[in-house]
Amino acid sequence: MTDKEIYDLWLSKFKDLRYLRPRRWKHLKDFIQKNSIKSVIEFGSGVSTLLLDSLNLDILSLETNKFYMGKVHSLCSSRVRFKLWNNMSLDIQESFDLSLVDGILPRLDQIEYAMKHSRFIVIDDYIAKSNKLLTGYKRVDLSSAPLGIFIPKDNQVMVDVGKIFSKYPNIHKLKYTNFYQRHFVNLQPKLLLEIGVLKGDSLRAWKDVFPNCKVIGIDINPLCKAENPDLNVYIGNQKDTNFLSKIINEVGLPDIVIDDGGHKRSEQVETFKFIFPKLKVDSLYIIEDLQTNYLDKWNDQKLSAIDYLKSLIDFKEHLKIPYKSITFEPNKGQSICIIKR
Ligand SMILES: C[S@@+](CC[C@H](N)C(=O)[O-])C[C@H]1O[C@@H](n2cnc3c(N)ncnc32)[C@H](O)[C@@H]1O
Repeated sequence: MTDKEIYDLWLSKFKDLRYLRPRRWKHLKDFIQKNSIKSVIEFGSGVSTLLLDSLNLDILSLETNKFYMGKVHSLCSSRVRFKLWNNMSLDIQESFDLSLVDGILPRLDQIEYAMKHSRFIVIDDYIAKSNKLLTGYKRVDLSSAPLGIFIPKDNQVMVDVGKIFSKYPNIHKLKYTNFYQRHFVNLQPKLLLEIGVLKGDSLRAWKDVFPNCKVIGIDINPLCKAENPDLNVYIGNQKDTNFLSKIINEVGLPDIVIDDGGHKRSEQVETFKFIFPKLKVDSLYIIEDLQTNYLDKWNDQKLSAIDYLKSLIDFKEHLKIPYKSITFEPNKGQSICIIKR
């Protein structure tokens, strides 16, 4: 649908106030297209939701009115996630490329959330000027539309994970680009450990994403070390706890662990059980490709990693291995999980 068709559809269904003006939308759309924006959180569902949806973005739309939300939902594609927001709490941990804090009366917690969890904040110029919170921010778009786009003054070059991944032809992560963009933006890890090196391109990409971080890899295949002398690679089995202990003793505890290794049920479970409880609070542990849990080739034990991770939600297990959040993200037949210590 063209923008005009979306507006016409909207006006035929709703004749109400929630209305992102075409001039503002044109300006926002140009910005989104030029800056590889892939994911957006918006406060308040409306015509903006349909317009953003037309750009094939990952969208989380928060809305306080259940009836209204249902109506907007029925007009959007399945890519858009809606969350009923009870106006009391804003309990979201995810990060997005862009936060749309539109409207003339944004709440303080929306702005604070946007500052913590997004690369760009879209907000009315009037609010930006009058709100002291945004004094450390600068307007990055030069348009005269009253909806400004802001980034922190000291963070002029925003990391674009998609661009970095595209530099590396042998990386096995393109399907998770949006996931990593959302979860890794604004992190400053000192040590990242990836299990599964293969050609080494993911380790190289992590070094680009986090230039001040030491990046190390584990692989069972000795060629991964021999063929990548530029990388810190340790050769061994991810299930071998003596091997893992030796590495941790040598380099310390990672702030981020990514399991993209053997993908067998036992490997995903054993490695997590050994490493995760040792991690410092707020460290992240990611397991890629959990769909393998359901495929014969990787099905080597009764307990799947998905079932094991689900069991952590159980109160008793939760106390044994405390963690802050556990988030599964299905993605076109691929599935990934991020657990925050
Ligand atoms: C999917 S590839 C890694 C891809 C790489 N992380 C990327 O994104 O480009 C999986 C790697 O895990 C390694 N691997 C398989 N089983 C393993 C195990 N039990 N312990 C350690 N590494 C293992 C394989 O040798 C292979 O290089």
